[in-house]
Amino acid sequence: MARITAGVSTSHIPAVGAAIDLGKMEEDYWKPVFKGYEFSKDWMKRNTPDVVLLVYNDHASAFDLSFVPTFAIGCAGEFQPADEGWGPRKVPTVQGHPELASHIAQSVILDEFDLTVVNEMDVDHGLTVPMSLMFGQPDAWPCKVIPIAVNVVVYPPPTGNRCYQLGKALSRAVGSFDEDLNIQIWGTGGMSHQLQGPRAGLINKEFDAHFLDKLVSDPENLAQMPHVDYMREAGSEGVELVMWFVMRGALNAEVEQVHRFYHVPASNTAVGHLILENPDATP
Ligand code: DHB
Ligand code: FE
Repeated sequence: MARITAGVSTSHIPAVGAAIDLGKMEEDYWKPVFKGYEFSKDWMKRNTPDVVLLVYNDHASAFDLSFVPTFAIGCAGEFQPADEGWGPRKVPTVQGHPELASHIAQSVILDEFDLTVVNEMDVDHGLTVPMSLMFGQPDAWPCKVIPIAVNVVVYPPPTGNRCYQLGKALSRAVGSFDEDLNIQIWGTGGMSHQLQGPRAGLINKEFDAHFLDKLVSDPENLAQMPHVDYMREAGSEGVELVMWFVMRGALNAEVEQVHRFYHVPASNTAVGHLILENPDATP
């Protein structure tokens, strides 16, 4: 049986990808950011999954205003890094898992979550930056990836609770896939950040700390938080945090937190990162 063994959440800041690609990781500004992921890369070597369900948002790279799926699943055999205006990142092509992705689409849609099936799409920093943070700079990514895109760019995004319930549906889908696979689920984006307007650069450390605490210990209640609270407290792009609930919903009620990291500054965003293990699902 396939099983979800762990969840990872992390910010997906594009400037972090550029710092990696341009060899700036040792610079004073960036060093503390990458230090927070040293444990993660080590842990990942010991816990390399077969497949990652990677929840992220497309930033008008594969989708644009002509079509904006609320939830989409990538069922292709591979996904190329997107050109976001300065050429595609020179990172490996992402290998998909079409059989598992199609099974998940069937299971989740018949479970009344209407995912959009996408058979061709490029993946942007929302997906590739977390890959670099967790796996470093290998010639090929060490596992397959099923991209799950959530709209947090165009109003209205889904609620935190809808994302949390989708996580539960994904967990049911994985549990009914009849192959022995070690699967992780990742949620990306956040933490507090606002990229435009008079409040650009807004960071709210108290909000972020509370979110990290409650996501682990009390996600059902945290998932009830309305969008306006994210906007007011965590900035307009802080609403990316709803994607972390897909990850959390797919895990057990009780999880073991094996790593937590928080750092400011990094570009316009507070960097937040968790690794959570499902205690009874170790391979
Ligand atoms: C930044 C963060 C994001 O999540 C993003 O998608 C784009 C930019 C930033 O902090 O600069
Ligand atoms: Fe983003």
